[in-house]
Amino acid sequence: MSRPDASARTCLTIALAAGEGTRMKSALPKVLHPVAGRPMVAHVLAACATAGADALAVVVGPGRDDVARAATVAAPDASIFVQTERLGTAHATLAARDAIARGWDDLLIVFGDTPLLRSETLAALRAALASGAAVAAMGFEPADPTGYGRLLIEGGALLAIREHKDATAAERAVRTCNAGIMAIDGRRALELLDAISNTNAQREFYLTDVVEVARARGLRCVAVMAPEEEAMGVNDRVQLAAAEAVMQRRLRESAMRMGATMIAPETVFMCWDTRIGRDVLIEPNVVFGPGVVVEDGAVIHAFSHLEGAYVRGGASAGPFARLRPGADLGRNAKVGNFVEVKAAQVGEGAKISHLSYIGDASVGADANIGAGTITCNYDGFSKFRTTIGAGAFIGSNSSLVAPVTIGHGAYVGSGSVVTEDVEADALAIARGRQAQKPGWAAAFRARQKPRGKT
Ligand code: UD1
Ligand code: MG
Repeated sequence: MSRPDASARTCLTIALAAGEGTRMKSALPKVLHPVAGRPMVAHVLAACATAGADALAVVVGPGRDDVARAATVAAPDASIFVQTERLGTAHATLAARDAIARGWDDLLIVFGDTPLLRSETLAALRAALASGAAVAAMGFEPADPTGYGRLLIEGGALLAIREHKDATAAERAVRTCNAGIMAIDGRRALELLDAISNTNAQREFYLTDVVEVARARGLRCVAVMAPEEEAMGVNDRVQLAAAEAVMQRRLRESAMRMGATMIAPETVFMCWDTRIGRDVLIEPNVVFGPGVVVEDGAVIHAFSHLEGAYVRGGASAGPFARLRPGADLGRNAKVGNFVEVKAAQVGEGAKISHLSYIGDASVGADANIGAGTITCNYDGFSKFRTTIGAGAFIGSNSSLVAPVTIGHGAYVGSGSVVTEDVEADALAIARGRQAQKPGWAAAFRARQKPRGKT
C-alpha cells in the first residue's frame, strides 16, 4: 500500500549521467559543464535533495571518476553506480539495481543534463505517486517537439510515451512531450523495469516503456506538466548558454526579491551560491564568481569582479574593483577603482580608494591606503604577509615588501619602498631625497636656443 502523505514517504533518486555528450565537443563530460559556476549534475542533485530524497544514486559511464567525484562533492552521501554499456535509459536506471532493491515508496529518475529542474516539480511528481499513480512522467510543451518522446494522454491517464523515432505521423502531431524525469512506485519499480524490452527503432531499453508495462498490469500512469525551461536538456554549447541565461535570470530575480537593487540586472552575473543581503546596490556589469557574500547595505559599483569574497555591511567596492578569494571587507570599508584585494582582511572603515594591490595582508580599522600602494607579497617562490595597523596612513605609490608590519597610527611617506617594520605612530620615509638645482631649467633652455628650439 502506498502511503498517502507525500512527506512521510521514503524516496530514492537516481540521476542518469552516463551520457557521452559528444555534441559538446569537449574534453569535459557533459554533465560537468558548469551552469552558474556549478556542474549541471550538481544542480540536479541539489534539486533532488530539496525535494526530500532520502538517498541519491548517480549512474556514471565506465571510468568516469571525475563525474563520480563531482556528484559526491554536491551530495556526499550519493552512491555511485557504473553503467558499463550504454543500452538505454531503463538499462541505465537498472545499473542502480542494488539501491532500488533496498525498498522505497518513491523512485525518482532524473537526468544529469537538465540543470534547470526545480524541486517543486519533483515534489509534484512524488505527490502523484502519493495519490495512487504507479508512474508519473514530467511533461512539457516545447515550441518545437521534434526529437522528444510524446506523451499519449487520454482522459487524464497517460497511456504511453512514444519516442520520436518510433512514433507514427499522428503521434508526432502530439505537442505534449516527455521531459524524461519520472517517478515510479518504488515497491514495483524493479518488477516494471525488468519487464522493459529493447524492441524499438534504437534497440535501446527505454525507460519510457515503463508506462505501457505498468498499464499492462492495470496500474495507473499520469503526466505532471512543468514549464518548458525546466525540462531543457543541454546537449551542446548553444543549449548550455541558453540554460545559463535562464539560471542567471532566476538568481537575479531571487536576489532582488530578497531586497537587493540591481540597476541593470541583465548585466549582473551570479553564481549558484552568491549571497546578497538586503538594501545592497549592485550597479551594472558586475560578475560574481563562486563563494561571495555581500551583507546588508553594501554597494558593488559598476564593472567589478568578485570571487570568494566577503563584503560586510555598508562596505563598498568598485567601480572596477577585483576582489579575489579571501578578500574580506570590514563594515563600511571602501575599496575603490582599479583595486585588487586577495586573501586580505580590510578592517572596518578602512579605505583603499585607488589603484592598489593588497594581497596576503591585513589592514587595520580606519587605515588609509594611498593610491598606487602595492603589497609585494611574492618572491617567486613563497607568499609573505603584510600587516597594517589600525589608523595607519600609507602614502601614495608605496611598495610594502612583505613580510612587513606597519604599526598602528604610523605614516609611510609617499613613494616609499618599505622593507623593515614601522613602529606604531612613527613616520617612515624610504625614498631618494629630493635634490634641487635653482635656475637649472632656465639655463638649460638658454643653452638649447641656438639649436632653433624655443
Ligand atoms: C529521453 C527520453 C525522451 C525525452 C527526452 C527528453 C527515453 C527513452 N527517452 O530521450 O522521451 O523526450 O529524454 O530530453 O528515456 N543515459 C544513460 N545511459 C544510457 C542512455 C542514457 O545514462 O544508456 C542518460 C543520458 O546521460 C541522459 C539521459 O539518460 O542524461 C537521457 O538520455 P538521452 O540519450 O539524452 O535520451 P533522449 O534521446 O534525449
Ligand atoms: Mg537527451
